Amino acid sequence: MLSKKMEKAINEQINAEFYSSYMYLSMSTYFDSSGLPGAAQWMRAQAEEEWFHGMKLLNFVNERGGRVSLKAIDQPPTTWKSALAVFQDVLAHEQKVTGLINNLVNLALDERDHASNIFLQWFVTEQVEEESGVGAVLDKLKLIGKDTSALFTLDAELGQRVFTPPPAKG
Ligand code: FEO
Repeated sequence: MLSKKMEKAINEQINAEFYSSYMYLSMSTYFDSSGLPGAAQWMRAQAEEEWFHGMKLLNFVNERGGRVSLKAIDQPPTTWKSALAVFQDVLAHEQKVTGLINNLVNLALDERDHASNIFLQWFVTEQVEEESGVGAVLDKLKLIGKDTSALFTLDAELGQRVFTPPPAKG
């Protein structure tokens, strides 16, 4: 059984994950209208992944006998100055999410809620991967600068990304 405090905190994280999904979808549409279909596909896959994160948390609350309470999702930004600006926002956002996940783990430890702690470790690992993946794209964009042809090459590479949900319980 989840404590009320943990239930509330995970419900807030569900909202944060669904907001992330919404924000990446907005970034995807920005790239769609900016002549970078590969980056648009990358963001679409990212949006699907975030939706999966939200659902994973939602299922956990249900499984632990808690009550899911869905909140309104904030409006994300709709436009950016450049591809570089978008990915800078992505990294800042993921660093913020890492902080939220760490706070959840701290709460689980404070409450000696071992089941939540074990469950949340998946997200801890996931955040390391996310920050690393985004950081790699950001590094390339910085090197590319104003080289349009290199940007198109990167765009083609980004377009290869697809989101495949891990097996259930994964
Ligand atoms: Fe669900 Fe990007 O962390």
